[in-house]
Amino acid sequence: MNIRQLLDQRVSNALISAGASKDVSAVIKQSNKAQFGQYQANGVMGAAKKLKMNPRQLATQVVDALDLSDIADKVEVAGPGFLNIHLKPEWLSQQLELALNSDKLNIEQIKQPQTVVIDYSGPNLAKEMHVGHLRSTIIGDAIVRVLRFIGHRVIPQNHVGDWGTQFGMLLAHMNDLQSVDNELSMQLSDLEAFYRDAKKRFDAEPDFAKTARAYVVKLQAGDPNCLLLWQQFIDISLQHCEDVYQRLNVLLTRNDVMPESAYNDDLPQVIADLRDAGLLTEDQGAQCVFLEEFKGKDNKILPAIVQKSNGGYLYATTDLAALRYRYNKLHADRILYFVDARQSLHLNQVFAIAKKAHFVAPETQLEHMAFGTMMGKNGKPFATRDGGTVKLIDLLKEAEQRAFDLVNEKNPDLDEAERKAVAQTVGIAAVKYADLSKNRSSDYIFNWDTMLSFEGNTAPYLQYAYARIQSIFRKAGEFDHNAILNLIETPEKQLAIKLLQLPEAIEIVSKDGTPNILCNYLFELAGNFMTFYEACPILKADKEIKNSRLKLAKLTAKTLKTGLDLLGIKTLERM
Ligand code: ARG
Repeated sequence: MNIRQLLDQRVSNALISAGASKDVSAVIKQSNKAQFGQYQANGVMGAAKKLKMNPRQLATQVVDALDLSDIADKVEVAGPGFLNIHLKPEWLSQQLELALNSDKLNIEQIKQPQTVVIDYSGPNLAKEMHVGHLRSTIIGDAIVRVLRFIGHRVIPQNHVGDWGTQFGMLLAHMNDLQSVDNELSMQLSDLEAFYRDAKKRFDAEPDFAKTARAYVVKLQAGDPNCLLLWQQFIDISLQHCEDVYQRLNVLLTRNDVMPESAYNDDLPQVIADLRDAGLLTEDQGAQCVFLEEFKGKDNKILPAIVQKSNGGYLYATTDLAALRYRYNKLHADRILYFVDARQSLHLNQVFAIAKKAHFVAPETQLEHMAFGTMMGKNGKPFATRDGGTVKLIDLLKEAEQRAFDLVNEKNPDLDEAERKAVAQTVGIAAVKYADLSKNRSSDYIFNWDTMLSFEGNTAPYLQYAYARIQSIFRKAGEFDHNAILNLIETPEKQLAIKLLQLPEAIEIVSKDGTPNILCNYLFELAGNFMTFYEACPILKADKEIKNSRLKLAKLTAKTLKTGLDLLGIKTLERM
């Protein structure tokens, strides 16, 4: 239990003893002013209203019924009936010690672990990954790490697009080049250009277009030569993705790839089962599912098409097959989709159909963790100067280069190899953090200057805060780990309580899939540390105080490192 949950339980019980109903909510909030203690309970007013009681009177009764003597030294009634809770410094110290001495910061493992499938990244393999895949990839990855950290069984699924009509033209183009073997591997090293060339031929050469169409048919019919060529293409394209994942410090591997094509065999069965469930309607030759809850502006139902009139299957059909695979084979309790907000109708239709068709259990949690678009400075979707898509790999290389320029300027004395390594870590971190720290549901503006700044809620700021603490330890030398952690000054207490609130941030992130909550937490923690550091000298203090403060610094470093690690961001010992 984290502190908020602990207080919630205790105050709720006191409210119930004072006459409130069992479903009462204590509404525990972190205080934002030290003089109000560390937590507030705001639920008394609501409860009093229901009981038709004077809220201050109820508050007094709650305080009488509330036993917090083990953890708090003062609970006061404030304003119309708020409770301000002042936690005991000795109890806080004890909790800090527990965190210092455990490898997971004393964060509790979840009591009932779930099997959580996380669908993220999902690029289309016909082209190279572009900036549109950045958000899904890094937000999804952070959630994988967070859920794993608290003990859930997490199964990442990379639902890559590896099937469909574009592949016909790519294979036809590949086939023509294959005679000159070297040429082929060279051409495929830039998939984006390869795609453009194939498309150009497709549009300009009628014969080529014909061959390309024939390739699609052969591929779908399982022609062995065609499949071989296709497999080669997919392998190379996946290799490109893996380069990006590695550079991004993202956990995805080939084992997590469950491509669209893997569901091909199940698609006719999906249609048959939907028909048996009475969900199919034929509309202009196509097989559709009409559900009341999805209506357009004109109040007409928006159908989900699951089979075209020519027999072909669609994106939705594959997603339905994927859902039941995740439920039946992976035994998912919860399935999270980190997918662009523009696919929200599609996913919500798929979820609703899957429930109606019993492809998943009624209680299976299906959640679209939607995100907005990454915009350029001009307020339009991020693109190259001439409006083209930006390859993700190019964006990451630019980030590293910009960070390198910065390091050269700030720290010219480091040797070149170290400057390169620092630049790599900082550049990638800056891009990731800029994204992770924004509310995922809104669009956000991509801005090199703010993300690489050492001030504000940025990766360089946090990485620097961490490196700074490490430098304190290099200067301090050995210190006594058995020293008593004594919280005396206000900034010490402020830092202490913040350190103990990591589990509360994690609780929210794990429920809502919102890494920005963890980012905010780390930013505030670094801020509290800076305030403490300026107000409370460490190395110049007397031995006992020095050791106590070093312990606070140690736990701050440990918490920053753990938190950044949960976001998939690396720390540096010096920078
Ligand atoms: N390939 C899709 C795209 O690029 C994303 C896949 C998302 N996952 C899913 N199960 N539909 O838009």
